[in-house]
Amino acid sequence: MRIFRLNILAFFLLFVVQYNTFALQDVTTDLFGAENYGTVAAFGDFNSDKQTDIFIIRKQSELVIFLADSKTPYFKPKVQKIKDVFDTIVTSVVPGDYDGDSQMDVLVTTQIKPEAPTSVFIFWGNNQTLGTAPTLFDLILCLFLADGDGYQDHLLPVCLDKSCQNSAIYLAKPSQSEKWVPVLSDFKWRETVWSFVPGKPSQPLALHLGDYNLDGFPDALVILRNTSSSGQQQAFLLENVPCNNASCKSVGRMFRIHWDQSDLGAIQNAIMATFFDIYEDGILDMLVLSQAAGKNDSIIHALKNNFEADAYFVKVMVLSGLCSNDCPEDVKPFGVNQPGPYVMYTTVDSNGYLKNASAGQLSQSAHFSLQLPYTVLGLGRSANFLDHLFVGIPRQPGETDIRKQEWTAIIPNSQLIVIPFPHNKPRSWSAKLYLTPSNSVLLTAIALIGVCVFILVIIGILHWQEKKADDREKRQEAHRFHFDAM
Ligand SMILES: *[C@@H]1O[C@H](CO)[C@@H](O)[C@H](O)[C@H]1NC(C)=O
Ligand SMILES: *[C@@H]1O[C@H](CO)[C@@H](O)[C@H](O)[C@H]1NC(C)=O
Ligand SMILES: *[C@@H]1O[C@H](CO)[C@@H](O)[C@H](O)[C@H]1NC(C)=O
Ligand SMILES: *[C@@H]1O[C@H](CO)[C@@H](O)[C@H](O)[C@H]1NC(C)=O
Ligand SMILES: *[C@@H]1O[C@H](CO)[C@@H](O)[C@H](O)[C@H]1NC(C)=O
Repeated sequence: MRIFRLNILAFFLLFVVQYNTFALQDVTTDLFGAENYGTVAAFGDFNSDKQTDIFIIRKQSELVIFLADSKTPYFKPKVQKIKDVFDTIVTSVVPGDYDGDSQMDVLVTTQIKPEAPTSVFIFWGNNQTLGTAPTLFDLILCLFLADGDGYQDHLLPVCLDKSCQNSAIYLAKPSQSEKWVPVLSDFKWRETVWSFVPGKPSQPLALHLGDYNLDGFPDALVILRNTSSSGQQQAFLLENVPCNNASCKSVGRMFRIHWDQSDLGAIQNAIMATFFDIYEDGILDMLVLSQAAGKNDSIIHALKNNFEADAYFVKVMVLSGLCSNDCPEDVKPFGVNQPGPYVMYTTVDSNGYLKNASAGQLSQSAHFSLQLPYTVLGLGRSANFLDHLFVGIPRQPGETDIRKQEWTAIIPNSQLIVIPFPHNKPRSWSAKLYLTPSNSVLLTAIALIGVCVFILVIIGILHWQEKKADDREKRQEAHRFHFDAM
């Protein structure tokens, strides 16, 4: 027997590619083709295919719903002419299910003149089209109570003087004192002082939040203007970083402006910027609107976030789960996006510390809030299972039972669709999990396959050599036997 020694080299090369680079790629043509104009007013799943569609206002009075599609352009327009119904200016669009039939209706606020009172219309959704005879409402009062038990902070972007030469962002923690703490007050970069653009009804002053780098802390997109030059406006990304200034010590975090983000800076005269998950892959991309001279409709720019660091996320979408009369038997009603649900997780991070975070879904739906109908929870670099994920939905006034359900051991990089049906029985709610394999899973698979092939080749070569040696030995033995016999 031949004993062979296989000298196994340490072939486990671990590539911990810590890019942490942040590059944006303009994908406007892929998304909209030549249809990239109008004001992005809201996001919502209009045709119940679980893909988020975009509601765009054009010519001030036309509502165009861009339905998500699997082929380029990924968003295809479907026109809803409101102009023919009323000759008014659309000031806001709020998709939602207002009559509980599991079909998405669209609420539209309109104004005939800028000073005129606002009217509210609801177009009733019916078989994925909108009826042409909307109902007029004088006043709609919406009150949502999220019944979670985590804490959310309040962020307030402000102008510190009348002409808005100085701006700041303040934060208040409801759990602590009522004090407002500045988390961003330095708007100066290379001799230029930037500031917020004072809010107008068509462009309210707003922070659009989203966790672009999946570190678990929400970042923001804002529009700032150059205070020393009229009309120079740009979109900026504010990254949520640990506090390094005495003024924000009590909250521990602050915003840092990415001044030299050239892809955002290339968009001249930006008027609105928001996060949007274009490819439904859990990574938040960006939509930026800009105003071109002599054009009434703004131009839409779509920027893909090529964020490469190996960070993890869980995307949660809570649907209404309401069933309409023609709901097929035994088919779980999916329903449409719902305002008000509360999502919270608690888990243990890679250092063994308890970690938790919470978010509300569609906490605000009117006036270009541009909130997404889902929640992307960034988990940072910890690839652990999420120990507990809680989802709560608003309950009716007077009811005392908490409508909350818990799911355990959620896999990172997955998308969870929660169907809270029936609403008052959290035990029978269901959740559907969709997995998005991350880069590292693919790398690991490739590395494993490579190692297997490598070992197989070595085994093959050694086997062949041993067989050859055996043959030679046998032949020699046969010879020896021959000689002995002689
Ligand atoms: C819905 O519309 C499609 C075509 O747009 C039609 O084929 C289908 O029968 C309609 N369903 C109902 C319930 O009206
Ligand atoms: C979240 O974690 C903090 C510690 O990091 C803890 O003090 C707090 O009670 C936790 N909240 C919940 C709701 O578990
Ligand atoms: C801001 O405007 C001033 C005056 O027009 C100009 O000199 C300066 O370069 C501008 N800053 C930036 C960053 O473009
Ligand atoms: C710290 O905060 C104060 C007040 O908010 C501000 O004036 C100062 O510029 C900040 N310092 C740094 C280094 O950011
Ligand atoms: C822009 O709007 C105004 C008034 O609403 C209208 O008179 C003008 O023709 C429009 N311009 C373009 C290029 O559509």
